Amino acid sequence: RKTINIAVIPGDGIGKEVTPQTQAVMGKAVGNQVRLNYVDYDLGAERYLRDGTLLNDEDLESIGQQDAILLGAVGDPRVRSGILERGLLLKLRFSFDQAVNLRPTKLYPGVNSPLKNPGRIDFAVVREGTEGLYSGMGGYIRRGTDQAIATETSLNTAFGVERAVRYAFDLARKRGGKRNVTMVNKTNVLPHAGALWLDIMDKVAQEYPDVTWDYLHADACTIFLVTDPSRFDVIVTDNLFGDVLTDEAGAVVGGIGYSASANINVTDEHPSMFEPIHGSAPDIAGKGIANPTASILSGAMLLEHFGYDQAAERIQRAVEEDVAANASRSRSTQEVAQDIIARL
Ligand code: NAD
Ligand code: IPM
Ligand code: MN
Repeated sequence: RKTINIAVIPGDGIGKEVTPQTQAVMGKAVGNQVRLNYVDYDLGAERYLRDGTLLNDEDLESIGQQDAILLGAVGDPRVRSGILERGLLLKLRFSFDQAVNLRPTKLYPGVNSPLKNPGRIDFAVVREGTEGLYSGMGGYIRRGTDQAIATETSLNTAFGVERAVRYAFDLARKRGGKRNVTMVNKTNVLPHAGALWLDIMDKVAQEYPDVTWDYLHADACTIFLVTDPSRFDVIVTDNLFGDVLTDEAGAVVGGIGYSASANINVTDEHPSMFEPIHGSAPDIAGKGIANPTASILSGAMLLEHFGYDQAAERIQRAVEEDVAANASRSRSTQEVAQDIIARL
């Protein structure tokens, strides 16, 4: 029997509440088809406040030896904003070269969309995961004076952009739906990065005659996400636009409690990481009321990544049935997970 070694990083806040539920659901879904070997990592605010460490070389070395990472969320009101997010989450994405941040967006029947006529919403955002304005390049000089200057540099490499774009075209083909890729950027104000992205779209598209593509400015994309979300099939975009658009997409399909994601290392040289899109939700942490569905669906993405498509589909189907039956009821984190497990 095969084994998947999974580094489990529940992290902070509701991350700690939803992650164990996902582990239980995944275990039930795979049965004895594969052994899920969970290796726990105590990373996050508690450890940082205890000894000042975030994610050291030893942690990276050990996590790097696992096959995949299941992450909850990081972020804690006691820690200055950005410390845990950059020092832990982004460091994981960067260290393990997780170039594709895949964020499927689907409106499940029964879930209440804030849109009056949502229509059929089922698209995926391929967000470049290691470059753009997340590069950390820039500086802040003359701080504290009224001549202070801060810069943030958006890094776009042909190599990095092509990995994301290629993934998007492959995905459009694999999904077998509209077979369309929409590139989102702001080529009107970002002439350099915009041109590089367009050049690569042009080049890669040649290899996919069966897939069409179009282009939208990011601001216009935010409009269409609420006025006509069913037009989208696969969206490909940079790191920051992708971050913003996927929170909006999550809201449109009934809330961030349903939005899953995969941070994929496309060469399989390093572990890929699976996590809900939402954060640690300090406003509801500790109450046991966080919706574990986004995390559970991320667990399904993990199983799919390793080729356990049927187990992944079982989870998706159980979630679909569960939301159709119960989305309007208010349930605890544990109740939702138990209801999903009961359908598996
Ligand atoms: P958030 O996603 O944590 O919360 C936004 C809102 O959505 C809150 O009202 C919250 O209660 C609600 N919410 C989120 N997940 C939910 C769930 N599963 N069920 C029910 N309601 C849910 O975003 P935020 O408030 O901007 O950030 C809080 C902290 O999390 C910050 O420190 C931020 O940096 C961090 N963060 C981490 C990640 C991550 O680890 N991947 C992602 C986003 C934000
Ligand atoms: C996300 C989060 C992260 C991001 C933060 C917490 C660094 O918002 O996963 O969407 O910006 O990528
Ligand atoms: Mn985000």
